[in-house]
Amino acid sequence: MSFFLKLFKLLPPELSHSFSLNSLNILHKLKILRFFIKRPKNNEIFDFIGLRFKNRLGTAAGLDKNGDYIDALGELGFGFLEVGTITPKAQKGNSKPRVFRNFKENSIINRLGFNNKGVDHLVKNLKNRSYEGIIGVNIGANKQSEGPERINDYLICLEKVYKHSDYITINISSPNTPNLRELHNKDELKNLIEAIDSKVIELDIAAPIFLKISPDESDLVIDTVIEILDSSQISGIIATNTTIDKSNIINKEFRSIDGGLSGAPLMGKATDKLSYIYTRSNHLPLIGVGGVTSKKDYEMKLQAGAQLVQIYTGFIIKGPKIVNEILSN
Ligand SMILES: Cc1cc2nc3c(=O)[nH]c(=O)nc-3n(C[C@H](O)[C@H](O)[C@H](O)COP(=O)(O)O)c2cc1C
Repeated sequence: MSFFLKLFKLLPPELSHSFSLNSLNILHKLKILRFFIKRPKNNEIFDFIGLRFKNRLGTAAGLDKNGDYIDALGELGFGFLEVGTITPKAQKGNSKPRVFRNFKENSIINRLGFNNKGVDHLVKNLKNRSYEGIIGVNIGANKQSEGPERINDYLICLEKVYKHSDYITINISSPNTPNLRELHNKDELKNLIEAIDSKVIELDIAAPIFLKISPDESDLVIDTVIEILDSSQISGIIATNTTIDKSNIINKEFRSIDGGLSGAPLMGKATDKLSYIYTRSNHLPLIGVGGVTSKKDYEMKLQAGAQLVQIYTGFIIKGPKIVNEILSN
């Protein structure tokens, strides 16, 4: 497996991504994936937000945007998977190149812009999955949608996915969709959450709903977010998405690339936000994400107040073996 990982790292990032996930899919379909993967042994089954998890490590949104790799990823030993971000209509995203890796600093900058095949494609994949573990769906708005239309995009996705997923994530924190992060502002967030609340009540949605936030918001904004969520149907927070703050990057050329930064340089900032939310929110259910590239990082997220931890960049850099590395004693 490490030979293939080295080979994939030589390819351009997006090609490498689809090549490696398609390879996992083929190995899964041939029923030989388990011979290549050392799966974690110490699975601790536990209940959280009304769901039963086999361990606390999951994939972060963006890794499998369209749900095309659910069964293969499900075989790697993760305790849960999050697919998406998905939008009502398929969209191409920003022009290429739009993903940049920095292996020396264990980080990625991306400005994909919610490229995805649309919610109906994802729902088809959810219906056809044989994976039986916990699955969350991360939903967003199309680039062209503005104002009430943008809120409606979340409602369309919510209505289409809720019967096929265990939890749902409202993503307001991608830096690559223009003005999306404005949804952190008090009035805009209130409107969005009220609309979601009404939909949850109307459809009697039992699946827990999380709000995925940005690490670039001030403590004041976070306080307002917590206050709004406190009287809503939202169960918890996912902290955090990528950052637009590149000050931690050493490589000058990499630092000048536009987009959201993930991986090791995000660890401190994302964990500080998580810890702040944990303290201020009176222990809201929290999923910690941002910068986990080792077992130590994973443990720090749990210590900061997360009950679940997600990973993206660490998985791209180290490959599937990171699941076993993190979850083994
Ligand atoms: C290439 C790439 C694409 C991403 N796409 C999404 C996305 O569609 N939706 C989302 O909520 N987060 C997305 N993310 C953010 C991750 O889910 C995660 O929050 C972030 O990368 C921090 O975690 P990490 O340091 O483990 O990568 C993406 C990240 C990367 C690197």
